[in-house]
Amino acid sequence: MAQGSENRWQKDAADQNFDYMFKILIIGNSSVGKTSFLFRYADDSFTSAFVSTVGIDFKVKTIFRHDKRIKLQIWDTAGQERYRTITTAYYRGAMGFILMYDITNEESFNSVQDWSTQIKTYSWDNAQVILVGNKCDMEDERIVSTDRGKQLADHLGMEFFETSAKENINVKAVFERLVDIICDKMSESLESDPSSVINASSRIAGTRLTDQPKLLQQSSSSSCNC
Ligand code: GTP
Ligand code: MG
Repeated sequence: MAQGSENRWQKDAADQNFDYMFKILIIGNSSVGKTSFLFRYADDSFTSAFVSTVGIDFKVKTIFRHDKRIKLQIWDTAGQERYRTITTAYYRGAMGFILMYDITNEESFNSVQDWSTQIKTYSWDNAQVILVGNKCDMEDERIVSTDRGKQLADHLGMEFFETSAKENINVKAVFERLVDIICDKMSESLESDPSSVINASSRIAGTRLTDQPKLLQQSSSSSCNC
């Protein structure tokens, strides 16, 4: 990573000036492009070299949405089976998941159902999930049609995007949509049961997004409950 961008990340991670913090996880089989997707979003960079992730790593990015400063803590998990015990331990407290497969890899698509079950087993009930078919730049090698992706997403009750970390297609759109549906869910949960979101996730998650001032403006400690 270039020195400048590294400094920016350090600054972002330490920055306490935000209205809300959302913990997001990227999950899916090894080599579907999770790390590449995060690097594209975070640094606008891409490399064709494959360095499989060991365990788990995260990046922080602060964005503006709904007139709020939202700090995203984005966890990039290892897809390899041998890290499963470590990675599922991080599901707790996640408000959003990007569940990724590779459109050129049938096995990664067939694993989506299992990943969805992992989310249900290890995360909070209200966690929001977007299904992502990555590597859509590789049309010549496509194995999973867009329709099959859409149908599976419908079946699992998720939204669906096809993306390319390489060509920067829909990467930002996925994160923005995920933030929007997390915000919608938070407002909905608070309307029906004001205590529900706070109990289930972090205190930041309990803040109403629609009409309140900065109720939970951060001071010194981190808001993440991971
Ligand atoms: P694990 O860390 O093992 O779980 O894998 P991962 O899901 O993080 O995969 P990674 O991002 O390391 O990408 C795997 C390979 O796919 C690398 O060689 C990337 O360059 C390539 N790749 C990732 N995204 C894309 C994409 O959108 N298009 C193309 N053509 N290649 C991609
Ligand atoms: Mg990786």
